[in-house]
Amino acid sequence: MEQELFSKVDNYIRNLFAKEDKVLTDTIKSLDSENIPQHSISSNQGKFLQVMMMACNAKKVLEIGALGGYSTIWMARSLPDNGKIITIEADKHHGDLANKNIENAGLKSKVELRIGKALDILPQIISENKEPFDLIFIDADKPPYTEYFTYALKLSRPGTIIICDNVIRSGKILENDTQDEKVQGVQRFNKMLSENQYVTATIIPTVGIKEYDGMAIAVVNRNL
Ligand code: SAH
Ligand code: DHB
Ligand code: MG
Repeated sequence: MEQELFSKVDNYIRNLFAKEDKVLTDTIKSLDSENIPQHSISSNQGKFLQVMMMACNAKKVLEIGALGGYSTIWMARSLPDNGKIITIEADKHHGDLANKNIENAGLKSKVELRIGKALDILPQIISENKEPFDLIFIDADKPPYTEYFTYALKLSRPGTIIICDNVIRSGKILENDTQDEKVQGVQRFNKMLSENQYVTATIIPTVGIKEYDGMAIAVVNRNL
């Protein structure tokens, strides 16, 4: 009953603010064709990422976890002409599909996809010593979320927005004795985030067409 209502409201918002075009619906379909799980963000969450990008005037974005490129396409569409996204994907099958979908979206010049485990690629990006990212979206495997966030801070400047998907996991984060490694990973992450001195942060719970979940939003403080 409630799930039905939440889905209807999600669709209502989507129809107003976040309608998908063929590029986006084809990207979602491509996951089924390739037997890849439907773990993309929703279209309303895609629009939310765009709003956050506009809020910080994002020109340089880092994403951890590309899957089929659905969230990458939403974000790349909000970049200015000289903007750029680096997205990291561990699974070559996913990465190849993401590249296809990004090319189909006409966004190849704005997206650099790096195939490899985030814990290997992130130190490489740090050693390249480029300018910091304006927005960072963490959406890969859940156990190392805390470590990803530590790298994200090193790649940030005061004002950088860091957004992390799936930090509520249908409310399973309330279970103190859980054996689920994904839930344990986000429990550890949420606690760290709440105590982190370098950011001002909160969690926005999300209900809708996806399972009950939430996104953490952190803004790096002025005195980083
Ligand atoms: N952001 C995507 C969904 C990502 S799903 C979207 O909304 O469209 C999570 C992705 O993280 C999967 O493709 C998975 O292969 C990838 N992943 C898992 N472990 C990883 C790791 N260690 N490093 C980088 N990517 C990883
Ligand atoms: C899972 C991962 C995601 O990024 C997501 O949005 C939903 C589920 C998962 O690994 O279970
Ligand atoms: Mg996710």
